[in-house]
Amino acid sequence: MPDQSKLRLGVNIDHVATIRNARGGDTPDPVRAAKLAEEAGADGITAHLREDRRHILDHDISALMEALTVPLNFEMAATEEMAQIALRHKPHAVCIVPEKREERTTEGGLEVAREENRLAHYIAPLRDAGCRVSIFIAADAKQIEAAARIGADIIELHTGAYCDAHAEGDVTTRDREFQSLREMSAYAHSLGLEVHAGHGLTYDTVAPIAAFPEVMELNIGHFLIGEAIFRGLQPAIAEMRSLMDAARGGARQAAG
Ligand code: PXP
Repeated sequence: MPDQSKLRLGVNIDHVATIRNARGGDTPDPVRAAKLAEEAGADGITAHLREDRRHILDHDISALMEALTVPLNFEMAATEEMAQIALRHKPHAVCIVPEKREERTTEGGLEVAREENRLAHYIAPLRDAGCRVSIFIAADAKQIEAAARIGADIIELHTGAYCDAHAEGDVTTRDREFQSLREMSAYAHSLGLEVHAGHGLTYDTVAPIAAFPEVMELNIGHFLIGEAIFRGLQPAIAEMRSLMDAARGGARQAAG
């Protein structure tokens, strides 16, 4: 079993850039948000350079690489353009996500099983360059097995369906999604993959996921940036951190 005390929080700052881009100027600055997040206890910063550049821009990635003292988790689609950018910057980690232009956010996990050969060739140079490669997937044994076969270091489990069902009050779906996440995080760990999770997490949904002993990192963005409007970024992050720590501590006690 991994060291349960080591649950990391990656703060996703994409939506600071969404607000900035709404007016086309320089403020609010996502790098400033990232530095504040570091001070508030973020263990890493996550940024998604989408192909349509709707929030994070190329110069944000350069600025983050320069300014951060915590690792950058660079989310990207598996395209040639993104591979070139990642190889230029060599961030600590790259997380490969599916991307559709018309979607509002990353709606599903990556179809690794269907594209195994291409993805194996795609991630090899990234790993050779020293980036840890993470694959964002649904809690599905077939996708997890494919991620292990292509040589990924990490899988990030998509928590969106669990969070959506919670928000809609659909307890049956929420519990089913939760059970899949629970089983698949243990399964991925048993295959030697490091397990992360994220998407749609809030104060109400984070604790049960944080309690999974195999999960080493949660990546959380939209809710935190929204919450920051009301109480400030650092208190918003600090509360998330303390909910994660309490859930992890509680799970450790229950385990003996
Ligand atoms: N993890 C991945 C792979 C994502 O694509 C996103 C959204 O960009 C997140 C985590 C964070 O999701 P949210 O902004 O809903 O917290």
